Amino acid sequence: PPDIAVANVKAHLNQLQSIATANGGNRAHGRPGYLASVTYVKGLLDAAGFTTQQQSFTYNGATGYNLIADWPGGDTSDTVMIGAHLDSVTAGPGINDNGSGSAANLEVALAVARTGFQPTRHLRFGWWGAEELGLRGSTAYVNSLSSAQKAAIGAYLNFDMVASPNPGYFLYDGDNSDGTGAGPGPAGSAEIEDTLEAYFASIGVPTRGTDFDGRSDYGPFISAGIPAGGIFTGAEGRKTSAQVSLWGGTTGAFDPCYHAACDTIANLNDTALDRNSDAIASAVWSLSSGTVPPPT
Ligand code: PHE
Ligand code: ZN
Ligand code: ZN
Ligand code: ZN
Ligand code: CA
Repeated sequence: PPDIAVANVKAHLNQLQSIATANGGNRAHGRPGYLASVTYVKGLLDAAGFTTQQQSFTYNGATGYNLIADWPGGDTSDTVMIGAHLDSVTAGPGINDNGSGSAANLEVALAVARTGFQPTRHLRFGWWGAEELGLRGSTAYVNSLSSAQKAAIGAYLNFDMVASPNPGYFLYDGDNSDGTGAGPGPAGSAEIEDTLEAYFASIGVPTRGTDFDGRSDYGPFISAGIPAGGIFTGAEGRKTSAQVSLWGGTTGAFDPCYHAACDTIANLNDTALDRNSDAIASAVWSLSSGTVPPPT
């Protein structure tokens, strides 16, 4: 897999910041900054050779949009889907939440095109609307699929907050090895966790599990029985002193600007953004080439 240039990811985040600044300070559902964000991402994907669809839905009296981007080729009955929510809350520009996952996934998609990657499995990327109002876009997408179309998604990878300023490295706990809260993900989720875990092991960064607690867009996918996984660097929760020993940083919140006006381009940990962008590329390449590393 390619090494994703974090400068390219940052360039997308600068664009999302400019879009928010030009549209009343946010990129929220039903506000002009949201559609401008979709238009920015779509323009780059169309130019790179993706087949894109802007899916509309209605929530709270406003039209919302999902952006779906298919990379032509691969086995469409066995699709790997990579998603991130593109909307912010109304309080701020949403650069860590979730410009970070949106921009990292975008740059990985552009790397797929740039390298002419021809995976065994089909690749599809999704940018979700109205996550912040209750996973509305991802739910509309999954509800729009037939049973056969749901069964054709072999894996869903979710990236929501991957550059928190005081980061942890949490992987959705597919195998329930942490034994707390929500149980394991659907069968196949453990392999996705193992794949991400293997990447972090290769760069010497420890990871921990985070429950599938329903707080992000993997929710409707796991409800449909689709194996899922992903990375999360932490939101309003506080880093424990044990986690500071593991990852550095401070015992404050993972993201002190969570859902706030200060979630700007200054609210990012560039090291986390770089590592996680590379981890996404690594997982996309290895999962879609049909090879999965052994459990660790
Ligand atoms: N989905 C939450 C939000 O957008 C953030 C979050 C992601 C919380 C993953 C927990 C786990 O605000
Ligand atoms: Zn890198
Ligand atoms: Zn949020
Ligand atoms: Zn989020
Ligand atoms: Ca685990």
